[in-house]
Amino acid sequence: MITDIAVMQQTAGNLRSGGKRIAVVPTMGALHDGHVALIRAARQNADVVVTTVFVNPTQFGRGEDFERYPRDLPKDVALAAAAGTDYVFAPTAAEMYPQGYSTDVDVRGVSGILEGHVRPGHFRGVATVVLKLLNITKPHIAVFGQKDAQQVVVIRHLMQDLNLDVALVVVPIIREPDGLALSSRNVYLSAAERAQAPVLFRALGRAREMIGSGERSAERIVGAMGTMIQSASPVVIDYISIADAETLEEQAECRAGRPLLVSLAVRFGTTRLIDNIQITPP
Ligand code: PAJ
Repeated sequence: MITDIAVMQQTAGNLRSGGKRIAVVPTMGALHDGHVALIRAARQNADVVVTTVFVNPTQFGRGEDFERYPRDLPKDVALAAAAGTDYVFAPTAAEMYPQGYSTDVDVRGVSGILEGHVRPGHFRGVATVVLKLLNITKPHIAVFGQKDAQQVVVIRHLMQDLNLDVALVVVPIIREPDGLALSSRNVYLSAAERAQAPVLFRALGRAREMIGSGERSAERIVGAMGTMIQSASPVVIDYISIADAETLEEQAECRAGRPLLVSLAVRFGTTRLIDNIQITPP
């Protein structure tokens, strides 16, 4: 495990000089099978896999779960290694943001909608830390999960706009047998909430069915999904969105042949879950 930025940069520099292709998997730890799928994909696409474990304070808002976010570094190091990681980079917050730190990366537009609307500043924190992690680990390839679909869109913009010479690999969502998307935050759910949470995936499936059978009105689809979720459990729905998969522009009508991202964020008590699927209307 490496905790020093300088050591990580030197290690990565040496690997690159030796002709090795590096893949990085940025994580906040509390690793589960979703992260493992990312590490395996990295393994398949590169000679050396660096998994980063850093609970990034700047992407958490006031009153969010930064303090209680699950942390178990020894377990993460073991899991990461078992999945095929060569180096775990796990810096402290003081190493990443020393006294006098004053630079942010703001991917305008797409950072302000959906997750970014509910969590102002979140994607500024994400874009900034991801750029730092790329500069530190010097990868050829960076691997992210479709679980955080908007994060992928933000990072794609970041890479394009700032001419980063890194290829983006996106891995599909890994789910529990009952459909619940794996998340480090699932451990917060009570037994009752855990039993209700698969309704999110069922609601996304309902959207797929409706669109597949010709429904084109986003309002009617979102309405049906909302009713389904509300009737299964007493939750707060932050949003249900049907947007263009590439631009995340909200769509009123599901037009044939245009890839859509159906995404949602729902709070079960104090636990906020997100999920999504991509659908191309026939
Ligand atoms: P974290 O939530 O730990 O997620 C790390 C990566 O794992 C992300 O790319 C996320 O999309 C992916 N992931 C999580 N659950 C998944 C699942 N069920 N299936 C597939 N992929 C999954 O996302 C972050 O950390 C942070 O914002 C980070 C990018 C590390 C910046 O701090």
